[in-house]
Amino acid sequence: MGQIDFKDKVIWITGASSGLGEAMAHEFADCGAKVILSGRKEKELVRVQSQVANSSILILDLLQSETFENKVNDAISLYGHVDIIVHNGGVGQNALAIDTKKEVQHTIFDVNFFSTTELTQYLLPHFKKRKTGNIVLISGVLGKVALPGRSSYSASKAALHGYYDSLRAELIEDNIDVTILIPSFLKTDLTKKSLSYNGDRSNKEAETAGCPVDKAAKQVANAVFKKKYQAFIGNNDKGRLLLLISRLFPSLAISMVLKQVKNN
Ligand SMILES: NC(=O)c1ccc[n+]([C@@H]2O[C@H](COP(=O)([O-])OP(=O)(O)OC[C@H]3O[C@@H](n4cnc5c(N)ncnc54)[C@H](OP(=O)(O)O)[C@@H]3O)[C@@H](O)[C@H]2O)c1
Repeated sequence: MGQIDFKDKVIWITGASSGLGEAMAHEFADCGAKVILSGRKEKELVRVQSQVANSSILILDLLQSETFENKVNDAISLYGHVDIIVHNGGVGQNALAIDTKKEVQHTIFDVNFFSTTELTQYLLPHFKKRKTGNIVLISGVLGKVALPGRSSYSASKAALHGYYDSLRAELIEDNIDVTILIPSFLKTDLTKKSLSYNGDRSNKEAETAGCPVDKAAKQVANAVFKKKYQAFIGNNDKGRLLLLISRLFPSLAISMVLKQVKNN
């Protein structure tokens, strides 16, 4: 993959307490970055920080938007500046659209979409002043490919593409990059922690064996280093194929997904 170097870069990761966020913290630090670990579980963040060189903790609940302005200022103060924000924190869904309560739909959008736009708005003046910065979004194949029981989750990921493709065009002359990453299925507890129709944890097991997060984190670091507009993350597997098929033959993609769901 070539030499990936983030020396002296300050990278702020949301949802760094587990899964892909934790793996990215290790990977970015291994590539020389100073890492700001955000999440709402202090104990988990302390555990991650104890294993990641050059890292600091910034407690952040993505549902508490009233704290975001101060949190952005706190993040900048930790190392004097922020170079890259990775909007990784996210929550899944495991409930049919017809059943999912309005409050749950809003929670999913608040965590997966609005937290990213609001934090970005507070951070942008800092990026513009420094004439550098990269805004990284962790989207997902389900933002592009339909799967039953994921309506609000899929919509929240799809919304990232519309918003941030537009923002990228606004920022081209400011030397500020936008990188949208599309993971396929990852080996994490996202499905277990996903919300059921009333907001309780679904505790469902994932249907598909996913890509190990350390492998995914290496792919993320490569795409961020190369300032790619968009990149697929994961095993070279069905996810990538489905993405292609859904673009070219949407009805075939839906029948493939439904067949897989029936077989599980
Ligand atoms: N797993 C997959 O197959 C897959 C595929 C495509 C995309 N993704 C995306 O990858 C990202 C990381 O997910 P993951 O798979 O690594 O699952 P994960 O281990 O559950 O990570 C999600 C992270 O987001 C945090 N988070 C959730 N709600 C939050 C809130 N209100 N405030 C602050 N932090 C919050 C979680 O912290 P808590 O422990 O406190 O909830 C956790 O650190 C997500 O954006 C997800 O949508 C995952």
